[in-house]
Amino acid sequence: MKKIILKDVKVRFKEHLALDIPNFELKGGVKLAVTGESGSGKSTLLNVLCLLESISGGRIFWNNKRVDDLSQMEKDRFRYENVGLVMQEFYLYSGLSAMQNVLLPLKFRYLKIPKQLSNRAFYLLERLNITEYSKNIDLLSRGEKQRVAIARALINSPKVIIADEPTASLDAQNSTHAVKLLLSLADEMGSAFICATHDKNLAEQLTYSLELKKGKKLEASFA
Ligand SMILES: Nc1ncnc2c1ncn2[C@@H]1O[C@H](COP(=O)(O)OP(=O)(O)OP(=O)(O)O)[C@@H](O)[C@H]1O
Ligand SMILES: [Mg+2]
Repeated sequence: MKKIILKDVKVRFKEHLALDIPNFELKGGVKLAVTGESGSGKSTLLNVLCLLESISGGRIFWNNKRVDDLSQMEKDRFRYENVGLVMQEFYLYSGLSAMQNVLLPLKFRYLKIPKQLSNRAFYLLERLNITEYSKNIDLLSRGEKQRVAIARALINSPKVIIADEPTASLDAQNSTHAVKLLLSLADEMGSAFICATHDKNLAEQLTYSLELKKGKKLEASFA
């Protein structure tokens, strides 16, 4: 991914203007923290960037290709191919193992998972210190579950990692650990990392920060 551009992007929920971004540009490999108080539009912005939320006006470009006007199916495919999503809730599948959860997104694409991808799943789980691959996910700690969710998000080596308060439900130690791993894996893949967070510690580790207030860009700066 070379760059993402938002032009005059607006998101309205009924009359409420939840997001109003005249101009935004993100270059490949950049690490950006999106901050702002609750309700300021952080999740809305992230969802817009990965085409999960439709915009009420404006245009979105990825590498100079317009993407906001793709069909729903094209958007889903685009997201699958380009974005790794890490959310506050892990959305792991109860009853499946750690490995099965990481491979699950691929099940929709492949009848038989290519060796290269199952090797990558092993590699990611190992890097994320999950050694019991076949253990039922329900028996893992919160920190371990989050690391499995991170492995799942990175299985396709996404060009952009989008994380929405990925550490909000973790304690300080687990949170620092998860962030360090996410950042080093993003570096390894040369991926951009966009992260909504209330965590100052996390924001300070990223290269840029963008603060939202009532859906508008308040400031964008080097951290
Ligand atoms: N699906 C929706 N329908 C109606 N209003 C919504 C919807 N999603 C978000 N909003 C509103 O849009 C605004 C921005 O919400 P958003 O979830 O982006 O905030 P946020 O900065 O992520 O907050 P938090 O820190 O609590 O996660 C809020 O006023 C919220 O109530
Ligand atoms: Mg949010």
